Amino acid sequence: MSPFAVTRTLPADATAAALRADVLAGLSRRPRQLPPKWFYDARGSELFEEITRLPEYYPTRAEREILAGRAGEIAAACPARTLVELGSGSSEKTRLLLGALAGLRAYVPVDVSESALRRAGEGLLADHPGLTVHALVADFQHGMELPDTPGPRLVAFLGGTIGNLLPDERAAFLAAVRGLLSPGDALLLGTDLVKDEKVLVAAYDDASGVTAEFNKNVLEVLDRELAADFDPADFDHVAVWDREREWIEMRLRARRALTAKIPALDLEVPFAAGEELRTEVSAKFRREGVRRELSAAGLGLRHWWTDAGGRFALSLSGPAAD
Ligand code: AVJ
Repeated sequence: MSPFAVTRTLPADATAAALRADVLAGLSRRPRQLPPKWFYDARGSELFEEITRLPEYYPTRAEREILAGRAGEIAAACPARTLVELGSGSSEKTRLLLGALAGLRAYVPVDVSESALRRAGEGLLADHPGLTVHALVADFQHGMELPDTPGPRLVAFLGGTIGNLLPDERAAFLAAVRGLLSPGDALLLGTDLVKDEKVLVAAYDDASGVTAEFNKNVLEVLDRELAADFDPADFDHVAVWDREREWIEMRLRARRALTAKIPALDLEVPFAAGEELRTEVSAKFRREGVRRELSAAGLGLRHWWTDAGGRFALSLSGPAAD
């Protein structure tokens, strides 16, 4: 088998069709909303990398601290021969795991972006010449089939990205992951934790304005992909903590009354002055809630590790005995 294979389970035009459907549904309703996945064009991914280096944005550093300290324990709990990484993005944190998994034979990064997969996969191969990389172009929210690589399998979903899914989407996602696992396999899940509101809001509304630019970038995506006429300068960046639902919401608030035109969808979207468009939910978790959600999907919580500051958690779970 060649050391680098790419399998596409996503039709080439699926992304464009999904964007149109999400924008049509999300901007035709009130309150207006868009799913956060559309932030991540080339510019958005670059801005996100910049966010991870901001003094206010602690999750990336906290998760790296846990991985650096616990990689050996993770490998002992699941001596994986295949590492599956959902939403693989930058491979920096992956390297900490790869270094600890002594028996690893295959690395299966899963992402919607083929270019991101090729870049990450080729970089890793250079350092781990014995490894087979089987990249999967797929949307992990819409069913995936894993390549036939040796078990046990460790499925990693890092960064706290599960918090960007709404509760019913999380339940469906965890059930789908459970369906991929056999006895001995495990899910390594990164979750940001509930903490002081000021710390949370600052992480999503940083002093240098990088997160504001990241948020407004979704309007640039709509302008480019759908020939929309949004002017990002017409909107303010807003980050609020919803204490009931325990999630951060990012919104774009219209600074004046305006009507955006989206010719590709034959759509006109009026905004009243001050009207908000929700662009992201980023849920924060507690151990008991994570345990409950895993359990509802048929996954038993086996390990729970946090950084020294108790800001972020990595959990390891596996198929519950039935
Ligand atoms: C994609 C989950 C890592 O929700 O914290 C960062 C995205 N949004 N700043 C998060 C994000 C605003 C991020 N993750």
